[in-house]
Amino acid sequence: MIIDIVTIFPKMFKPVLGESIIRRAQDKGLVKINVHDLRDYSGLTHKKVDAPSFGGGPGMVIRPEAVFSAVESILGYQLYPAKRRDRKKSIVFFTPQGKILTQKRIKKSLRFERLVLLCGRYEGIDYRIRKYLVDEEVSIGDYVLSGGEPAAMVFVDAIVRIIPGVVSCSDSIKQESFESNFLDYPHYTKPRNFRELKVPEVLLSGDHRKIEQWRSKKALELTKARRPDLLKE
Ligand code: ADE
Repeated sequence: MIIDIVTIFPKMFKPVLGESIIRRAQDKGLVKINVHDLRDYSGLTHKKVDAPSFGGGPGMVIRPEAVFSAVESILGYQLYPAKRRDRKKSIVFFTPQGKILTQKRIKKSLRFERLVLLCGRYEGIDYRIRKYLVDEEVSIGDYVLSGGEPAAMVFVDAIVRIIPGVVSCSDSIKQESFESNFLDYPHYTKPRNFRELKVPEVLLSGDHRKIEQWRSKKALELTKARRPDLLKE
């Protein structure tokens, strides 16, 4: 998979892409992640990419030319008015007005060979970009970020870790929260007794059937208490 991120803050991504599972996935050649500075596609002096909002109002709005030019140059063909579309590629824009990101949606995105992620500023991106360039709009929750960058990072992290071969123990992915509509069960490790806080006996029993039963029970209890909506699905 190839992921292209278009942003006016490319430096924000360096630390995130350079560590942990995302780093290893790139090193293994399982994903290629390119970060593009939108300002490089401005075409204007001082690499300006925004302008005041027509009709008035506070804040600046990102102009369409730079964004169309960036995406068309990344993909290598014109998208409008040519309207050429490739079902193996998707252009994603992050906005609180988008559809809420879920594990299901992340899994669906795995079918794409290439994803172009557009990070905007909340106040302003020219609507023509959303209407004629973007394939899907994604929100990571009902709150407002100052820009789409943190949302793009969340999206990249969630998708990269489920690319086959990235996480070696695929069981750990299957068992975790949201893969089964249940929240994850509680985990314990050494020491068995920490300041008189003891690990549940059943986990030390070696009885795998009983351990499975205990974990299922705890996962159900936790889901009922915190996310009853998941049980309705
Ligand atoms: N940009 C600003 N807020 C956002 C959110 N909640 N999700 C995705 N992109 C955003």
